[in-house]
Amino acid sequence: MEDLTAMCKRRGFIYPAFETYGGVAGFYDYGPLGSLMKKNIEELWRSFYLSHKNFAEIACPAIVPEAVLKASGHVDRFTDFVSTCPKCKSSYRANRLLKEEIDSSSLTFDGMRDIFKSGKIKCSKCGEKLTEISAFNLMFETKIGGDLKGFLRPETAQGIFINFPNMYRYFREKLPFGVVQIGRGYRNEISPRQGMIRLREFNMAEVEFFFDDPLCKEFEGIKDEKLNIFPKDGHEIELKAHEIYDKNIIRNQSQIYFMVLTRKFLIEAGVDPGRLRFRQHHTQEMAHYAKDCWDVEVYLDEWTEVAGIADRGTYDLDSHMRSSGKDFSVERKRKKIRIKEEKMEEVKKIFDKTDLIKKIEEMEFDENADIDEITIEKITLKKEFFDQYIVKKGKFVPSVIEPSYGIDRILYSILFHNFKQGVLALPPKIAPIKFGVFPLLRKKELKERARDVFEMLNKNGTKCYYDEGGSIGRRYARMDEIGTPFCITVDHQTLEDSTITIRFRDAREQIRVNIKDLAEKVRDLLG
Ligand code: ATP
Ligand code: GLY
Repeated sequence: MEDLTAMCKRRGFIYPAFETYGGVAGFYDYGPLGSLMKKNIEELWRSFYLSHKNFAEIACPAIVPEAVLKASGHVDRFTDFVSTCPKCKSSYRANRLLKEEIDSSSLTFDGMRDIFKSGKIKCSKCGEKLTEISAFNLMFETKIGGDLKGFLRPETAQGIFINFPNMYRYFREKLPFGVVQIGRGYRNEISPRQGMIRLREFNMAEVEFFFDDPLCKEFEGIKDEKLNIFPKDGHEIELKAHEIYDKNIIRNQSQIYFMVLTRKFLIEAGVDPGRLRFRQHHTQEMAHYAKDCWDVEVYLDEWTEVAGIADRGTYDLDSHMRSSGKDFSVERKRKKIRIKEEKMEEVKKIFDKTDLIKKIEEMEFDENADIDEITIEKITLKKEFFDQYIVKKGKFVPSVIEPSYGIDRILYSILFHNFKQGVLALPPKIAPIKFGVFPLLRKKELKERARDVFEMLNKNGTKCYYDEGGSIGRRYARMDEIGTPFCITVDHQTLEDSTITIRFRDAREQIRVNIKDLAEKVRDLLG
């Protein structure tokens, strides 16, 4: 980890923020390579969600008036428990201190207070007993204009919830739909000591999926995918998606679907599948808004949450509806079918029983269902025999599944899992620089050709790095260290037959490619 941290600073991934003025814990700057890598992770994440036709992205303000966060419960309940040393005044997160002693995830506030009262927990700076804990609200407070109280958003989610009526209209009043947002979140964490893992300003990627039906259309396609899960009253186990549903471990198919999607996204981004699991929250651990929550955990030097997939039920929409007085409820719509009048005689002959016709006409389907045929008692009726229509079944408030990701923790995990012996084995999609471009020797003709190649690739939008300094081996090593998957070298043969070499970071192999075929080859390699 020390090598990695040093490399991140030296090569321009991550810098401690405000270092010129002594630094402040919980803040980091992304350098040029870190910024590119972060953007690549966000783009990959977007591709996973926005490829669904019923998903869209929005962007909301980071400063939020008090009324919104009062309604959401954050003003009263978004707290951590802090213990401050009576002697040296160092502050600690109570959970964090207990974690070193016992499994604190299932402890209540009273349970934690009792442990502190017993005097077992000591200040790690001066050794004094820490006996008190108190609640500390994690939101940064601010003033909007002269006197309107506001906060920096602790999650991007609330912006999505209060836009629900707009988004419902945008999706032409059809459920389910997902709204995503990537943006900064702010939490005044109590003395953060874990580098990029616990920041006071961080980058979130959140999804609010609004639905009526706990069944999910996409579930069939992922039902055999395996997940490593750790249920709250069980042990770590690998199960297929449909087993998790069939065994009632999770009752909402969309929640399982998002877990599978998350696993794929993280693995494609470079997280080691062997160090990835989904851990269910204990009841006491759950945020105030959640009915059920699964942390997506990655193993660093301990299991670390990088995302959470929560069932928020109707909590948020109900709260905003109550507080704002606006109606967030929607019509429950179901599809039904009616036998066409002109086909009735024919249908009666097919079925030979009128009660089957009645049964068919009483059946209800999802409002989005595309009904091609109906089979009842082994008799199939094609769609030319019936009309399809929508009935309104009364108003209700949609439920929400929320996959919420911390981009900084994911970025750090990818660095951590892929940095070995000076080589950062990043997937090409995530690597900040895709190609190093070098002249083999510092000769004018070679340098000119190498610069041409560099400019051609850059013009195509492929992020490259031109380097003519030092031995070729050193130049490869510099690219290996920052995760560049491919290096192109222009040599004497290039001047004769217009071919260059491409060297593969992981296989350490080289191939020769004609410059005229390079654009296509690059597209292939970057996928
Ligand atoms: P933790 O238990 O570690 O404090 P959390 O459960 O409060 O995290 P969530 O509210 O579920 O976190 O936030 C969603 C995601 O945002 C987390 O999975 C994590 O990746 C990220 N995140 C939360 N707090 C921080 C932070 N202080 N610094 C960096 N990322 C964070
Ligand atoms: N292709 C140049 C080298 O191997 O050094």
